[in-house]
Amino acid sequence: MANILVTGATGTLGREVVAQALKQHATVRALVRDTTNVLPGTAEIAPGDLLTGGGLAEAMAGVDAIIHCATGFGPASDAELVAARNIIDMARKAGAPHVVYISIVGVDRSAFSYFRAKYEVEQLIRQSGLPFTILRATQFQSFVLNFIRSCETDGSIHLPKGLSFQPIAVTEVAAELVALALKPAQGSVPAMAGPQILKLEDMARTYVDIMQPGLVVHTEATESISEYHDAFRSRDSVAPDRAIGHLTWEAYLQAQKTEQ
Ligand SMILES: NC(=O)c1ccc[n+]([C@@H]2O[C@H](COP(=O)([O-])OP(=O)(O)OC[C@H]3O[C@@H](n4cnc5c(N)ncnc54)[C@H](OP(=O)(O)O)[C@@H]3O)[C@@H](O)[C@H]2O)c1
Repeated sequence: MANILVTGATGTLGREVVAQALKQHATVRALVRDTTNVLPGTAEIAPGDLLTGGGLAEAMAGVDAIIHCATGFGPASDAELVAARNIIDMARKAGAPHVVYISIVGVDRSAFSYFRAKYEVEQLIRQSGLPFTILRATQFQSFVLNFIRSCETDGSIHLPKGLSFQPIAVTEVAAELVALALKPAQGSVPAMAGPQILKLEDMARTYVDIMQPGLVVHTEATESISEYHDAFRSRDSVAPDRAIGHLTWEAYLQAQKTEQ
């Protein structure tokens, strides 16, 4: 039975990875900062912090693979790199387990600082000498839904113009990461993208129809936080030839509505 350490186990993706790895009968250890967090199933909790490196040696002891899902390490611009370096250093000392990293489609073509940091982490992992697999995915459906909801004020949704997404189900990405972790390291593997490329305003209208009837969708030209928006305007963040996800945006929203 494989021993897998999941970082970011309390996050959107990490939670699913833990659940799916347990379904595949792996022994799962979840790296968490706050041990009062409740995780699915029978994952072993390993307290640790990727920025300080505290707890990492214990968390990595005896693992065959690390699925690195943690992110959002705070305001420092090099925080993603600090965390990755801590993982790499500790993994070298822990017998070189397989490092599986989730990255994002288009990180190599974007000026957006978060994407650039992810690309640098990819490079660190490639040059680490550790066995690794890097999977890039498009945006999770939950990310786009949160984006749309964050643009909602006073009965209207005000969206920046010209953005497109190819959203994918987080469950499908999690399943693929677990499958990759259970195989020998493969280096950079082909990306995983959702089944449809959709304009943000069309996605918002489907959201309104299914979940929030009555809201009005507006699009507006905006230059604010433009590198972020540009990442989704340029079509560098979609992968039409890798549209292998199954769950459509509409089916995702219908499922969300049922869960409400
Ligand atoms: N969101 C998307 O659409 C998308 C698309 C493609 C790829 N990805 C990638 O998928 C990965 C997961 O994204 P997500 O949206 O699931 O992230 P998320 O929900 O924001 O979860 C982030 C996780 O990182 C943990 N974390 C933060 N700081 C930490 C630290 N210092 N030490 C240890 N753990 C720490 C958080 O733990 P706490 O609970 O302690 O805060 C949390 O579990 C990221 O690498 C992201 O770039 C995301």
